[in-house]
Amino acid sequence: MMNMAMLDPPEAVSLVTRDRIVCVVNDELSAAALRKGLDGGNLSIRRGTIRNAIKMLETDTNLSALVTDISGVEDPFADLERLASVCPPDVRVALVGESREITFYRELMDLGLTEYLPKPITRDMVLDQLRPKLIGEAVHSQPDRGGHVISICGAQGGAGATSIAINLALQLAETTKAKVALLDLHLQNGETAVMLGVQPGPGLRIALENPMRADTLFIERAAIAVNERVCLVSADEDLDAQLDITEAGVRHVLGLLRQRFNYIVVDVPVPFPPSIHPVLTVSRHVLVLLEAEVTGLRNAHSLRNAVTNIAGKDRVFTLLNRANRPGGLPKATIVKALGGEPDMVIPDLGKGMTQAVNLGVPALKHVSGLRRHLTPIVREITGVGGQPKGRLRRLLGL
Ligand SMILES: Nc1ncnc2c1ncn2[C@@H]1O[C@H](COP(=O)(O)OP(=O)(O)O)[C@@H](O)[C@H]1O
Ligand SMILES: [Mg+2]
Repeated sequence: MMNMAMLDPPEAVSLVTRDRIVCVVNDELSAAALRKGLDGGNLSIRRGTIRNAIKMLETDTNLSALVTDISGVEDPFADLERLASVCPPDVRVALVGESREITFYRELMDLGLTEYLPKPITRDMVLDQLRPKLIGEAVHSQPDRGGHVISICGAQGGAGATSIAINLALQLAETTKAKVALLDLHLQNGETAVMLGVQPGPGLRIALENPMRADTLFIERAAIAVNERVCLVSADEDLDAQLDITEAGVRHVLGLLRQRFNYIVVDVPVPFPPSIHPVLTVSRHVLVLLEAEVTGLRNAHSLRNAVTNIAGKDRVFTLLNRANRPGGLPKATIVKALGGEPDMVIPDLGKGMTQAVNLGVPALKHVSGLRRHLTPIVREITGVGGQPKGRLRRLLGL
């Protein structure tokens, strides 16, 4: 069904770095040293501390480097963790502060910070120690760094994979204030764009077929803004097109997205074409969705095995969707067939879910209750109560 929203897609927000350096420091001496030492670039200097920098990053991530201030901050590591959760992985972060302890410096460097300068900072310190690290070629990202990838795959058609992928992406962004990309790898019959009432951007197919042709501008062209923090990367290729997606292409696109977004939620086609194995390999969570049907149970078992073989057992989560749907298999049968309780459960949420699809609006806005059922899944993914420093190491810097 064609929906009206498709005729008028929202304009893509630019998520591309424009070599802008933002400094948020809380004293005039530091501001002056940075102004002089970083002169000539696209520079913006504001008063404040790391707290203000975090607030800014919640809405504005159009920057390549950030210099901010931890003086007077009681527990800088706690604030750094919050900063890391909203800061795009490719943004270089430097700090100024009061401590002159070498162990403190080392700890900060271990977390992936670009530099730390103790106050009082001077123009020459900025010129010698900061400028070369903030301006200039980006260091090549290591494969295990960057945004957190979550793959969603349905054990049977209609299990709700696309619905869950979309609404999970929206809720992740809402909860964490982080930047989230929704990547739809169904290039020919993907439904994410229709469900969100937007039109796919160009370039995904070319980038996946021929990685040499996709540079960082790829994201600017291909990523369509769904809202302030969520972008959709999808395609709408003809059904008779002969696609030649390569593993190198998939790895490259994912690498680009992981530099710019904190989370990447992927709507993964099933069965997995070999070219998309890299998606599963880098995923920290792979959600295998099934409905309470015989086909779902049969497929879930083999899909879980396939994911385990590619990504490892600790990454796979079974999500029973539309639980308690009239006519569905009873819970006991499901538990028996799965060999245990599903890791996650979302009940049947009624016809509102399908209405949302036809309206081209996210179900999160239309179906009360969905948010509550997604909350434990968001918590599992963001790892609240996990190991903050380990997470910080992975999120800050490349
Ligand atoms: N928990 C749910 N309760 C009710 N309807 C749902 C639920 N999850 C998904 N649906 C509906 O099921 C249909 C298929 O969902 P979809 O996300 O397209 O599945 P898939 O991508 O796995 O094929 C859609 O109409 C969707 O609105
Ligand atoms: Mg789908």
